[in-house]
Amino acid sequence: MPDRLALVTGATGFVASHLVPALATQGWEVRACGRRPRPASMPARADYRSVDLVDDPDLGELVEGVTHVFHLAGASSSRSSEAEMHRDNVRATERLFGALLAAGTVERALAMSSTSVYGEEVQLPSPVPEDVEPRPSRGYGKAKWEAEQAVWSAGAAGLPVTVVRPVSVHGPGAVKLLASVILDVAIERFIGLDRLAVHRVPVEQRLVHIDDLVRACLHLIDHPDAVGRPFNVVSGVYPTSHEVAEILAARLGMTVALDDDPDCGPDYDQRKQTRSAMLDRGMAGHILLSGERFRFLRKGNRNNRLSLDALESTGFRIGHADPRQAILADVEWYLQQRWILAPAGQRDAVRPPAE
Ligand SMILES: NC(=O)c1ccc[n+]([C@@H]2O[C@H](COP(=O)([O-])OP(=O)(O)OC[C@H]3O[C@@H](n4cnc5c(N)ncnc54)[C@H](OP(=O)(O)O)[C@@H]3O)[C@@H](O)[C@H]2O)c1
Repeated sequence: MPDRLALVTGATGFVASHLVPALATQGWEVRACGRRPRPASMPARADYRSVDLVDDPDLGELVEGVTHVFHLAGASSSRSSEAEMHRDNVRATERLFGALLAAGTVERALAMSSTSVYGEEVQLPSPVPEDVEPRPSRGYGKAKWEAEQAVWSAGAAGLPVTVVRPVSVHGPGAVKLLASVILDVAIERFIGLDRLAVHRVPVEQRLVHIDDLVRACLHLIDHPDAVGRPFNVVSGVYPTSHEVAEILAARLGMTVALDDDPDCGPDYDQRKQTRSAMLDRGMAGHILLSGERFRFLRKGNRNNRLSLDALESTGFRIGHADPRQAILADVEWYLQQRWILAPAGQRDAVRPPAE
């Protein structure tokens, strides 16, 4: 049996698609699980299992011999109903952490929650420290908070647990949130628009790059001061919706036009039809088309700013603190992978003409 065997749940998901290769590169033995079949991108030496953490009658085999846990499985509002969010966050975490306690081999367990536990409606101290009483206001935040309680209960029963609370994560492979905004801009460019309509009232954004989240997980899993504590994970830089729109518009050859109408821009049917036309032209359909245009940019939050003091007190430093550079790098990646299409005139610069 290996000295250190890491179990990664949620292994078919976005965050794990970066974490599992990073663990493998660092020489960890990895057991990974999701519900779907093994992802093609999973490192060959990772032991992959298809397991539903709620339905599987016995999680004993999954956790056997595990020394470290990265619990990433969960469901968010982009794709799941309230009932699914409860099932796949709360029930799944209760069952997994019960099995981890019973296994008796686990040295450290890290669970991925979310800063949505703080809620949007009740004003908390700003920047929000981890030790406030969270006031989750939406289904996802409530489910993540309840899931955290299962983790803290296991901690009280003797399991060395750590919780990370990331904001919206972006980077290569992301399919929702900022990715959906990037798709929206690409759709409008594809239609032929050269003005990108954005609501006049700016909304402050918060993001963290996937590389920073993965580094934070690898840093905290071994850190002696991380046991029994939650950690916010955020870039610490807060661009406005206007700034994000400017970055995207400039890259795709458009100009931002501020608009009094919060619902400005093409409607859902037009966006959907244009996306279909883009798929016909060879675009991959991975990025989620949000029902509401620019859904991610429009979500204001009175508790937007988060304290990084806890994470920094462990010696961790954020690497991607320039949103312009990080967002532009995302766009280049989506263009290269054809998850969005380049504007006419730029296509040859992105893909060889033979393709
Ligand atoms: N992405 C973000 O911006 C963000 C921000 C804050 C917090 N988080 C949290 O970070 C974690 C990872 O996020 P992500 O973006 O990687 O999520 P994701 O891409 O949506 O992937 C979710 C993963 O959870 C698995 N899963 C869900 N329910 C399950 C169940 N009942 N049993 C077993 N596996 C189950 C899914 O398996 P299948 O797909 O195979 O069914 C998938 O592998 C989640 O807990 C999320 O709440 C994410």
